[in-house]
Amino acid sequence: MRDKIVAANWKMNKSLPQAIELMQAITFGLKQNPVACKVVIAPPFLYLERVVNETKGLAHAAAQNCCSRNNGAYTGEVSADMIQSVGASYCIVGHSERRKLYAETPDVLEAKLQRCYDHSLTPIFCIGENHAERTENRHFDVVAQQLEYVLFNFGAEEVAKTVIAYEPVWAIGTGLTASPEQAQEMHAFIRKHIADKFGLELADDISILYGGSCNAQNAAGLFAQQDIDGGLIGGAALVADDFLKICNELR
Ligand code: 13P
Repeated sequence: MRDKIVAANWKMNKSLPQAIELMQAITFGLKQNPVACKVVIAPPFLYLERVVNETKGLAHAAAQNCCSRNNGAYTGEVSADMIQSVGASYCIVGHSERRKLYAETPDVLEAKLQRCYDHSLTPIFCIGENHAERTENRHFDVVAQQLEYVLFNFGAEEVAKTVIAYEPVWAIGTGLTASPEQAQEMHAFIRKHIADKFGLELADDISILYGGSCNAQNAAGLFAQQDIDGGLIGGAALVADDFLKICNELR
């Protein structure tokens, strides 16, 4: 049985007092009303250890990124080793903002995935087409290549430890969500592509999350789809009530 997961990606938002307030509201809500899914919170690095310590037993902490290299002279970077050492258990890899704004290439992403596997972090590997690619009907090819150029360079053992997030770039932060049917179609495609390479059993056990303007209103429709195993939530995860509602929609 694959994990059902709702993950919050706080991106570069919240001062420390605001982050603490949000975290406390989320933990309070989860204590009052336990949810049926795994909850993952990816705060900015500065707050990662606090999220680990203050959400213990209720949520898992994730980094939003890690360095492609091991510890060393890389000013400003944070290693998978460090992330593991503060008790976080997940790491987002290949978010479209990092691919686009920080020019992360398939080679870099492959190295980041390797660092995660080496340090027992579960990568949340993000893939998804942009607006032009969808309108030109190239979205399946683009997503297939994103899998093949990076994830498929690993063996079954590593791939089985990976969570995938399908995040169509045109839906991120735009209010334009993929319809449940559009998202299901792509999730089924992703699972089939993994099954063709690694077998049905492995593909069946992989959690594939949807991300891109997922909110308290549309989460139920998305999560009702057979191949959608949860969400990676940006904007709506910055408001505790909305995030908790989304968690409650995953059964
Ligand atoms: P939004 O939910 O704000 O569209 O962001 C999605 C996302 O990028 C999560 O990683």
